[in-house]
Amino acid sequence: MSDREGLIFRSDYLGDTAAWRALAGLLEDTFDIDVTIMDRLGGPDPTTVPFGWFDETGACIANISAFSMPLVINGAFVRAAGLQSGAVRPSHRGRGLYRNVMEAAIDHCDAEGVEAILLLTDTPDLYGRYGFRTLAQHHFTGPAPTGGTAGQVRRLDMANDADITLLRRLLKARRPVSDRFAPLRQLEMFLFNASLMPDLRLDLIEENTVIAWQAGLDGSLDLMDIVGAQIPSLADIVASLKIEAASVTVRFAPDHLAWDGEAVLDEGEMALMLRSAKDLRPEHPFALPPMAEF
Ligand SMILES: CC(C)(COP(=O)(O)OP(=O)(O)OC[C@H]1O[C@@H](n2cnc3c(N)ncnc32)[C@H](O)[C@@H]1OP(=O)(O)O)[C@@H](O)C(=O)NCCC(=O)NCCS
Repeated sequence: MSDREGLIFRSDYLGDTAAWRALAGLLEDTFDIDVTIMDRLGGPDPTTVPFGWFDETGACIANISAFSMPLVINGAFVRAAGLQSGAVRPSHRGRGLYRNVMEAAIDHCDAEGVEAILLLTDTPDLYGRYGFRTLAQHHFTGPAPTGGTAGQVRRLDMANDADITLLRRLLKARRPVSDRFAPLRQLEMFLFNASLMPDLRLDLIEENTVIAWQAGLDGSLDLMDIVGAQIPSLADIVASLKIEAASVTVRFAPDHLAWDGEAVLDEGEMALMLRSAKDLRPEHPFALPPMAEF
């Protein structure tokens, strides 16, 4: 234990503001990302259980956090969790701290009866040893559908607190955006990701459905997510947003959109990895919607 001398292990510490700030410091130093902007959006996901090592000054030295992320996979409910905020300070690497917090987080998920654990990483080699395997993701492209019915549209603004309250309400009551693979509930990361995407447009159709999208160079629709109790057809979305470009890209499986696109393998740097007791994997091409990335 000498490598851990002077360090204190803590779990489930997010209620302690100083410890939350210390974790934010570790993530800022490691990934150059400021998670404290979540404070204005309602705070981190309340299901989050972090596992970390702290030094005597209160600095967070190592961490991984588990959070509940119920999913639909192949049309069925899956009790799933995500792992995020995994890092060890350079001064303390190579001493098994990451293995220690990973094992604590996985044991916690297993004890909670979690059926599947997900993570996103640019170093998949690090996670095979814990039983994770990579799932291929796809995006979907094709001609923009025509003949849809246009609804009333209002653009939401992430700087407006009333719009955030509205988004929170719709996110709580949303239909999963796909039956092949989608989170049932993913509120905090949606808001956090939206705050970090300057080109994202959040357009509210008929006061009840938010279309999260970006415009391609030719003004085409690059669809990130749909938040509502009903999912409109892609034709109605294209008509409502007054998209005139000929093609569309959809970043999640389009099975609710009354539209078929060609599935194109994503070759980005981040791998989506899954650990489950039985061989659980989507039967058809899919992607984790970008707004749910964690
Ligand atoms: C990756 C990181 C968390 C490892 O922390 P660490 O405390 O040095 O890891 P450990 O000492 O517990 O090593 C655990 C195992 O992972 C291996 N490992 C460490 N970094 C690795 C990497 N980049 N790729 C593959 N394996 C790696 C170690 O060899 C060790 O293997 P062993 O258990 O068979 O001996 C740390 O280097 C870090 O914070 N990096 C920057 C942030 C990052 O990449 N986070 C993960 C993103 S998803």
